[in-house]
Amino acid sequence: MFKVLAKDGAAKYGRFETVHGTIETPVFMNVGTAGAIKGAVAAEDLKEIKTQVELSNTYHLHVRPGDKIVKQLGGLHRFMNWDKPILTDSGGFQVFSLAGLRKIKEEGVYFNSHVDGRKIFMGPEESMQIQSNLASTIAMAFDECPSSVASRDYIENSVARTARWLKRCRKEMNRLNGLEDTINKNQMLFGINQGGIYDDVRIEHAKAISDIDLDGYAIGGLAVGESHAEMYRIIEKVVPYLPGDKPVYLMGVGTPANILEAVERGVDFFDCVYPSRNGRHGHVYTNAGKLNLFNAKYETDDRPIEEGCQCPACKYHTRAYIRHLLKAKEMLGMRLCVLHNLYFYNTMMEEIREAIKAGRYSEYKNNKLEGFKENDK
Ligand code: GUN
Ligand code: ZN
Repeated sequence: MFKVLAKDGAAKYGRFETVHGTIETPVFMNVGTAGAIKGAVAAEDLKEIKTQVELSNTYHLHVRPGDKIVKQLGGLHRFMNWDKPILTDSGGFQVFSLAGLRKIKEEGVYFNSHVDGRKIFMGPEESMQIQSNLASTIAMAFDECPSSVASRDYIENSVARTARWLKRCRKEMNRLNGLEDTINKNQMLFGINQGGIYDDVRIEHAKAISDIDLDGYAIGGLAVGESHAEMYRIIEKVVPYLPGDKPVYLMGVGTPANILEAVERGVDFFDCVYPSRNGRHGHVYTNAGKLNLFNAKYETDDRPIEEGCQCPACKYHTRAYIRHLLKAKEMLGMRLCVLHNLYFYNTMMEEIREAIKAGRYSEYKNNKLEGFKENDK
């Protein structure tokens, strides 16, 4: 159940109740594709960095170790020792971005595993079955995320198929939630809006998915090559056509600035690999913009990454030490940068929620964006 407790323009502060606890929104979900956040971060670490939701992937866990094995071991929560909410992406997006030689048919997608090349079929029913075996808190509908260069004709056909797939997902998830040996019988389902950069296709699809009873509604197919202005325009066009009493999730987005802009347009859930991926490359977020710790100017810098930051990196270590670790390819260097970056994102979300509650969101957003510019000067 989603309760909106405060609104400031279109920005909302809410609470989303799940069987694994309450999620305060807006929220940034921390990406652990294969059941771990890359950078040697364990589930126990997430408690220290204010993580509310962990996000894993249907496709990756199906290919390795196999969702049946995860089910046998009690589901993903037990497998990775994380008892708070988990969202699983449906596999659609990853099949399209990773797997070779794929064929899209009405029934689903035929493709080859990126691990061992073996042939796999995944359709809406298979995706729901895998996510039910993983027993995540929230499952995502099986969708097609068309290429950013696809023609309008291609996108129209693809979106119509994604809409038909959603009905099959709903039906299959209802069936699975009613089975005796299902681990999480309250598994939630979010639908996904597609339509490329065509406002009318997006709106028509948003109306179609809103007719289906779902726990939340995602906007997919963005941050795939379009401009930021186009992405913000699509969000503005689509949000009014989604049910107002359910959360809106913007998939795969984005930079701190993207998140600040999207919250202002009514988005509640986010996820992105940026904080972990950038951290693994020594790029760290601060309120004065992003720093590259490989830069020689940090060689003797004995300040923390961010003064006053309470993350496990900043509490105990200096920029100079972390830079040395990164240069020496010590795993700890990456780990500390990833922990700091996730803490930075999760803390920004906390500030966003406070600003909305206090009715000063746009002031907060403008100050934050102004600060980020420091390091571009
Ligand atoms: N992650 C980022 N974008 C997408 C999308 O369009 N669909 C799915 N399933 N996952 C995504
Ligand atoms: Zn820090």
